[in-house]
This record gives sequence, C-alpha cells and structure tokens, in this order.
Amino acid sequence: MIRLPGKRKETAVPADTGGRESEELIRLENLVKIYDTGALRVLGLNKINLTIRRGEFVAIMGHSGSGKSTLMNILGCLDRPTLGQYYLEGQDVAGLKPDELSAIRNRKIGFVFQSFNLISRMSVEKNVEVPMTYARVKPAERKRRALRLLEQVGLLSRVSHEPNELSGGQRQRVAIARALANDPPLLLADEPTGNLDSQASVEIMELFARLHESGVTVVVVTHEDNIAAYTHRIITFQDGRILSDRQNEHPTPVSSQQGLLHRLT
Ligand SMILES: Nc1ncnc2c1ncn2[C@@H]1O[C@H](COP(=O)(O)OP(=O)(O)O)[C@@H](O)[C@H]1O
Ligand SMILES: [Mg+2]
Repeated sequence: MIRLPGKRKETAVPADTGGRESEELIRLENLVKIYDTGALRVLGLNKINLTIRRGEFVAIMGHSGSGKSTLMNILGCLDRPTLGQYYLEGQDVAGLKPDELSAIRNRKIGFVFQSFNLISRMSVEKNVEVPMTYARVKPAERKRRALRLLEQVGLLSRVSHEPNELSGGQRQRVAIARALANDPPLLLADEPTGNLDSQASVEIMELFARLHESGVTVVVVTHEDNIAAYTHRIITFQDGRILSDRQNEHPTPVSSQQGLLHRLT
C-alpha cells in the first residue's frame, strides 16, 4: 500500500467528532529533544513518530536513560521538544508558550509521579482540589468532586488526613485522584509504582486498568514486565528511539473492586 503524503493532515481532526475510540489523541512527528547543558549536548529523544488513540492503555518501557521521562514530560506539556510536532487532540502544542502549556496541562492532562508530589500539611481532600482551584471551579463543586474522586480510589475514610499519615500506595491513590480532578482525557504516570511494594503496585495498576475501562487514555512508564503486563500496548525505548511497539493480547486481568477497598479498615 502506498501512503500518500496528504494523510498527515488527519491530525487536524477536532476532538469532539464521533468515533472517539479510534480517534487520535496524541501524534508525535519527528520529535527530537536535545538537552543543552552548556559543555554537553545530550540527545534525549531522536526523531520519534508515535500515535496514541483515545482510550488506549499503554506502557512505556526501556532501560534507565532511554528517554522515557523525556517523552512523558513532553507529552505532559511539562517540557517542550527541540524539533518536531506534538499534536494533542489535533492541536499542535509543540510551539506553545509556557503559560499556554500550563493551561493545556490543567485541562487535558493528569500527571502522576513516582514520588507522589503531594503537598504536605494539606489534607488529602485539599490536595485533590488544587487543580480545580487553578481551573476556577467553585468551592462547593471542588469539594463534591474531590470527595467523589477519593471515593473512586477507595480513600473516602482518609479525606482529612495529611499525606504523611498515609502509606505509599494510599499517597499514590491521592495523586491519581488529583490527576483526575479536571476530568482530563489523558492520564500520564512516570514510574508510578517505583516507590511501592508489590501489593500496592498491583492496586495502582488495577486502578489504572479500571480508569482505562471507564474511557481514560492511560500511559504508564515502568521497568517491570509484570506492571507493563496490565496494559494493552507496550512500547520499548532505547537510546531515545522506539525499539519496539507491540500489542499485549492478554493483559493481566483485574480482580474485583474488593481488592482495593479491603485495605481501608
Ligand atoms: N535535564 C536534563 N539535562 C541533561 N540531560 C538530561 C536531562 N534529562 C534527561 N537527560 C538525558 O536524556 C537522556 C534520557 O533521559 P530520561 O528521559 O530521563 O531517561 P529515562 O526516564 O528513560 O531513564 C539521558 O541520557 C539523560 O541523561
Ligand atoms: Mg525516567
């Protein structure tokens, strides 16, 4: 089959057309990231071409230094590429200014970090409300949505606690609730289970799997095969390039809701 050059124009399809399942959420074209540290120039990403469709559940794998975080930071609008295009819901975001990027980040992207990045001395509920404050959601609505999200992640009994009173797995669940605060289409997680024991890691992956089932597009970075095994597509990076990109035909099945909720008491 011959690919016509004109095909690339498809990226301009607006977000709210029908057929959401097969619609492109992310498209990267010849994406390059060079870190210029003065004396040294490091190639973080080397001409990445990648499409992720709405509703996918993707793992990004690869050795340390292969470019996973560089990719995630660009996907999450925390950093900008040096060269190339990044279309998010059809909008070219590669060249946006920092304040425009933060607006996109606030509305369209939930980001979960390995180290949770919660605000200490602030209650769990208030942590979840932070992105809604930036989005100017009214206080009563903020509270209602925060409590609903905390219920979804199984933490309704911990809403008044501060992060340091919670286990690692619980903190990460708060971070996930916070990431979902503005109902973003895209959830990104950079080694979200990197600081967790195996039981808590399973709970976090089951939570992502349920979010995926509810329609959220989820991209998770991990080194671990058993974590990637929950996802439906596994992309492996090496030296800033895509080494392989394959479907996972048999994702790890998710146990019942009870698995998450039993730890509350
Ligand atoms: N802020 C930075 N300044 C300079 N080099 C960086 C920076 N961040 C990452 N790099 C380099 O870019 C490459 C990819 O790094 P990274 O994306 O963090 O890899 P991974 O997340 O897969 O471990 C590595 O060679 C790393 O040293
Ligand atoms: Mg990394």
